Amino acid sequence: MPRAKISVIGAGNVGATCAHWIVAKELADCVLVDIVEGMPQGKALDMMEATPVVDSDCQITGSNGYEATAGSDVVIITSGIPRKPGMSRDDLLATNKKIMSSVCAEVKKTSPDACVIIVANPLDAMCHVAFDTLDFPRERVMGMAGVLDTARYKSFIAMELNVSVEDVHGMVLGGHGDTMVPLPNHTSVGGIPLTELIAKERIDEIITRTAKGGAEIVGLLKTGSAFYAPSAGAVAMAESIIKDKKRVLPCASLLNGEYGHNDLFIGVPCILGKGGVEKVIELKLDDHEKGLLDHSANAVKGLVEALANN
Ligand code: NAI
Ligand code: 2OP
Repeated sequence: MPRAKISVIGAGNVGATCAHWIVAKELADCVLVDIVEGMPQGKALDMMEATPVVDSDCQITGSNGYEATAGSDVVIITSGIPRKPGMSRDDLLATNKKIMSSVCAEVKKTSPDACVIIVANPLDAMCHVAFDTLDFPRERVMGMAGVLDTARYKSFIAMELNVSVEDVHGMVLGGHGDTMVPLPNHTSVGGIPLTELIAKERIDEIITRTAKGGAEIVGLLKTGSAFYAPSAGAVAMAESIIKDKKRVLPCASLLNGEYGHNDLFIGVPCILGKGGVEKVIELKLDDHEKGLLDHSANAVKGLVEALANN
């Protein structure tokens, strides 16, 4: 059976690290695309030369065009500028909108049956740009942010309790911004509710650190934003699709009435399989949680409206 094919558009920090995880996991053949001449080819060759060391038979190629990406099963779009200290994700809107629509026009022609995972920021708004340009069914266009935000939340909880990350279960919903919605009442550690293990004030601090998790890394790096955890998140989504694992992951998905919202991409729990987002799971939220999700949805709506003027 031929190996699956994943194309990663944008071979910068997030894109190249996605390719690294794909090859290391021997998940699929991988095509890395960027506009910078020689750069995706150089990174792909370097990774190809690592395959005998890590025992991976994946083929990885770099390109400045889309021919080599044709017929991809999954396309991960990371192309776009990242933020610098002092910038919010929303400051990237106008530049990344142009990049996203030009990239999606190429993907639509070359990989019409692909599932497309958006990573570029501002994430939820970029999903709208991609969805409008691709004109694919909603199941096959989704955004990666919830997996990252949830990973940060779980890491902080595991650090706080000095327990294995494997035993922390929970989810962060909503838009990928300061209004994201961690759900402590739906979080458990080895089956024990989080609220029985950590005092409310400390949980609130963890929630705040999660919401500002991207800015914390930008402040430290100074020249760009996070890429190890984000790329791991995008590849976890791609893996669930390629292997039809049907993992339940928080993804930005176009809502069609779920959670009381329509025509809006926002982070919600999804079952990811061969068909992409096979189901959006509707959690029972209490009034406070629903209020926070609505607040986050309104922030995303504001950005989507701003797209029209950019
Ligand atoms: P980077 O600057 O390292 O890489 C971006 C790459 O895109 C560059 O190599 C650039 O040449 C390329 N590019 C620009 N225009 C292109 C085009 N038209 N076609 C192909 N390639 C093009 O940035 P990094 O750190 O990889 O971040 C990429 C994007 O992902 C940013 O917008 C960042 O904010 C976002 N991001 C989103 C996360 C999320 O949770 N959704 C997490 C981390 C980053
Ligand atoms: C992050 O949260 C930059 O959105 C990216 O790290």
